[in-house]
Amino acid sequence: MENFDFYAPTYFAFGQNKESEVGKLVKQFGGTKVLIHYGGGSVVKSGLLDRVKKALDAERIPYCELGGVMPNPRSGLVYQGIELCKKESIDFILAVGGGSTIDSSKAIAAGVVYDGDFWDFYEGKRIENALPIGTVLTIAAAGSEGSPDSVITKEEGMLKRGASGNAIRPKFSVLNPALTQTLPAYQTACGITDIIAHLYERYLTNTAEVECTDRLIEALIMTMVHEGPRVIENPNNYDARANIMWAGMVAHNNICGVGRSQDWTSHNLEHELSAEYDCAHGAGLAVVMPAVFTYTMSHDVKRFATIARRVWNVEEADDETAAKAGIEALKTYLKGIGMPLTFAELGAKKADIEKLAHTACYGDGSGSGFVYGFTTMSEEDVIKVYNLML
Ligand code: NZQ
Ligand code: ZN
Repeated sequence: MENFDFYAPTYFAFGQNKESEVGKLVKQFGGTKVLIHYGGGSVVKSGLLDRVKKALDAERIPYCELGGVMPNPRSGLVYQGIELCKKESIDFILAVGGGSTIDSSKAIAAGVVYDGDFWDFYEGKRIENALPIGTVLTIAAAGSEGSPDSVITKEEGMLKRGASGNAIRPKFSVLNPALTQTLPAYQTACGITDIIAHLYERYLTNTAEVECTDRLIEALIMTMVHEGPRVIENPNNYDARANIMWAGMVAHNNICGVGRSQDWTSHNLEHELSAEYDCAHGAGLAVVMPAVFTYTMSHDVKRFATIARRVWNVEEADDETAAKAGIEALKTYLKGIGMPLTFAELGAKKADIEKLAHTACYGDGSGSGFVYGFTTMSEEDVIKVYNLML
């Protein structure tokens, strides 16, 4: 195991009706004037936004609102949010929604206290300072409620990139699994897929002797394998939703990723797809993961065989056969919860592959020409991987 520092001081309020405590939580973490940031309207329709406002009113905390965050959140609204916060002297940002809303809130929070262009952070500058953020989560998926990360798409060139820093870890996150019961089945499944990807991309490591985090990851994937079909079959299964929601947080606040190198190849290749075709991140990952795993399997067949046996109950004695069977089991599972498995199902085009691979490797010109992770992929490798998704 490698040396590490791990500091993840988010306060979690988990369970039924916990959103009623949001006013007290904002106060506890020093907020005196709040920006409520939300998405395309699901929180208006469900009545959650009104309940959140009531909770702030009860503590006499003033607020402004900024809705309209799109899935795969855009830079344009971030700039608007930064201006609004400055004009209104906002000192706390409350994200009410999914990963997109939380990520947009994080970008605004970092941008308000920064003299330059917030996009600098999405080109590699570490976020050291930000307004405090709280979240009320409505979908178990991205893990942004406990992560130090934010992913934004720059409209100019449709470049989707991530930024990081402990300063944007939420001060608190309200996790009420019942709030996820209004999700369409497809979005629930996209979330489940994203959570599984966050686990696999940590499992695929080049660090030896990491049994503790290996075992945590295996347990969490097994939880998703168990709970996924149950929640697709019965969207009102509170307990299944509760287990998925907590697994989604644990999968991505990096408690499972410390002390080990991590992969992120699938996420990098997927971000090109959701930037180009505006598909759901989880759906993109369902198409990308099996292709990336098949391409990189030979780098460490043993690792793929181990996860196949421990998580997918594969019994083959030969490592390569077991590894392949594990990837097939993952595909069968993803298909079973309603995820796409091919480029065509996603609306992606074969003719775009070279362009997608080029952007994955070079970005808008500043990239190194490689995708680094479990293996190092050249542009030629990336083209081959995208071709496996046809
Ligand atoms: O916008 P509204 O109207 O709220 O609708 C959303 C949206 O259409 C809807 N939804 C959310 N909760 C709902 C609901 N509909 C009904 N009932 C509810 N309770 O679901 C749709 C998807 O929402 P979104 O926030 O986009 O989903 P998700 O949480 O999957 O976030 C995806 C974004 O997170 C990024 C992805 O790349 C993508 O841009 N990621 C962020 C990470 C991070 N910050 O740590 C890590 C991830 O790997 C990921 O890359
Ligand atoms: Zn993800």
